[in-house]
Amino acid sequence: MDLFEKCYGYTEAKDAIRDGVYPYFIPMTETEGTESVFHGHRLIMCGSNNYLGLTTDPRVQQAAIEAVRRFGTSCTGSRFLNGTLELHEQLEHELAEWLGKEAALVFSTGMQTNLGTISALVARNDIVILDKDDHASIVDGARLGWGKTRRFRHNDMADLKRVLSSIAEDKGKFVVVDGLFSMGGDLAPLPEIAALCKKYGARLMVDDAHSIGVMGGGRGTAAHFGITEQVDLIMSTFSKSFASLGGFIAGDEPIIHYVKHHARSLIFSASIPASNAAAALAALKIMRDEPEHSARVNAIGDRVRKELSAMGFNIGHSVSPIIPIFIGDTPSTILAWKTLFDAGVFVNPVLAPAVLAGQELLRTSYMASHTDAQIDRALEIYRKVGKQLGLIP
Ligand SMILES: Cc1ncc(COP(=O)(O)O)c(C=O)c1O
Repeated sequence: MDLFEKCYGYTEAKDAIRDGVYPYFIPMTETEGTESVFHGHRLIMCGSNNYLGLTTDPRVQQAAIEAVRRFGTSCTGSRFLNGTLELHEQLEHELAEWLGKEAALVFSTGMQTNLGTISALVARNDIVILDKDDHASIVDGARLGWGKTRRFRHNDMADLKRVLSSIAEDKGKFVVVDGLFSMGGDLAPLPEIAALCKKYGARLMVDDAHSIGVMGGGRGTAAHFGITEQVDLIMSTFSKSFASLGGFIAGDEPIIHYVKHHARSLIFSASIPASNAAAALAALKIMRDEPEHSARVNAIGDRVRKELSAMGFNIGHSVSPIIPIFIGDTPSTILAWKTLFDAGVFVNPVLAPAVLAGQELLRTSYMASHTDAQIDRALEIYRKVGKQLGLIP
């Protein structure tokens, strides 16, 4: 059988392109953050992860430009060999201090952070325990490890207890959850998870990709709940609030030292360029010095959640500036996405298998830099389209 047969037989995406309802890989020609141009059509951006609006902050841009001038455009190698700059180490020190951890380690993306960290820590006798809604990079990190994976129902503490209590005492146990779930915008109940981990002798890692900069005064979900010391490892990415590219893991020094010498995605991949490290450092400084950006994005999130609920949309359990609009099937979700796109708002359609069938949704998300007028306009469009398509009364 020809290995490529599956490729020639794959028509789903091409059918959607032909029918003009393909929502992915749409090239952007221009953006200043809150508004972006696609095919000459200007849209309010309600589908980005640029939560603090820092990708166009002149201080972040300037830091990146100066770093390129000083160090060039690429590190041309891994952190392990020729690719560590003093900027990477400065970033690690500042991140560890900001999060209240002993040490941090910078990877090239958040995906690589999860792949490298989880697979380095999960040995043959270990079990990694995941929430069913955990991000794909966590799932893949667990698949790369030598140990077995168990799943528990989303945010269901009785189910987590059932899984933990069924694992033999001589196994190493590693619970890994998203702090703030990227699709639902809901929080993991970290205090309960940490208590169960303590009871059953499990270690806990939290993926704060969406919550650093947003929750806990910018320090993420462990800080939000005031339990930083009970969370063994905090992971995040630079591709969202940090307005850059890269990722990191923070925790006790011996654990970070071990990961540094065992994570294959760190050792066998080139490090982030100086421009990305410098942009992340500049964004971190803004997060520390100017808490008003975090306050602003949360205030926008509060307003949008309240208004969408009042209009009659189902926004699930969101408590954050990530606000899903549950639609419930693929054709209606695509139709809603396309109608919003044509009306001037960019949101992301999320379909099965990224979510369970029946849970198809539009993922909307907001930025500190959105103006009140932009939010007014987006809400007006949601209302109009919602009524037009019969999604709301
Ligand atoms: C929860 C979560 N973890 C990890 C990642 C990966 O981050 P990166 O984009 O830096 O690879 C993402 C990004 O989509 C994410 O949402």
